[in-house]
Amino acid sequence: MHGLNPEKLPRHLAIIMDGNGRWAQERMLKRIIGHQRGVETVRVIVEESSRLGIKYLTLFAFSAENWLRPKTEVKSLMALLKKYIRIETARMIDSNIRFNVIGNLNELPPDVNEAVQEAIDRTSRNGGMILTLALSYGARQEILMAAGRIAEDLASGSLSRDNLDEKLFSSYLFTSDIPDPDFLIRTSGEMRISNFLLWQLAYTELYFSDVNWPEFKANELYRALRDYQSRERRFGRTSAQLQNRS
Ligand code: IPE
Ligand code: IPE
Ligand code: MG
Repeated sequence: MHGLNPEKLPRHLAIIMDGNGRWAQERMLKRIIGHQRGVETVRVIVEESSRLGIKYLTLFAFSAENWLRPKTEVKSLMALLKKYIRIETARMIDSNIRFNVIGNLNELPPDVNEAVQEAIDRTSRNGGMILTLALSYGARQEILMAAGRIAEDLASGSLSRDNLDEKLFSSYLFTSDIPDPDFLIRTSGEMRISNFLLWQLAYTELYFSDVNWPEFKANELYRALRDYQSRERRFGRTSAQLQNRS
């Protein structure tokens, strides 16, 4: 139906969900209506990813820099987030999805933080897809936090310089228990990373769709995944080397 090879799906799919505001403005609607419609796309994409058998789905929902938006937009986004998490927890339990969050959670309003913690707790024993929301997340801030903690551990002697390698560095990041993304989708035609997962995206395949997030539904996801399946991930090697590996 969707023309996808179930053997070649990304283990970890990450998405920068962009274009809610423009979707609304193009229709003379308020930006928040675009965010509300965006939540409906989240539902579809979460369900579809889980159904396809993707193991990790990470969604960029609110960046560390998004706090700079007008207060009214931030407030409605936080309210929407809380409502989404509350409503979706039951559905995540039914679909065996484990909820997870990355970002600077201390900056979130206490009621949003509570909803987040409750969803994490109530889905903690689920063994299906791991859904991670990036909230108040910035990759440079994450890398700096890791560097700071590493400096502390070196100073206290609990970490030795000789043990510091890529694997150990990764273990200090928010994503310590998540593999690097295999595939990154960004919607709305913007071609930038906007401070998302800078360390983790080193060898991720990138895909940019012109479709705004509220209209990015199952067919767009399939289209993106078919593109992913046509790619050759070389990790610095030559194509011939990859063909010879059985
Ligand atoms: C993405 O849509 C959602 C968030 C960043 C919270 P935008 O709100 O960035 O939509 P555009 O880019 O203004 O269209
Ligand atoms: C990136 O989108 C953040 C999220 C999708 C949550 P933005 O709309 O904030 O990114 P810029 O500002 O256009 O780079
Ligand atoms: Mg945007």
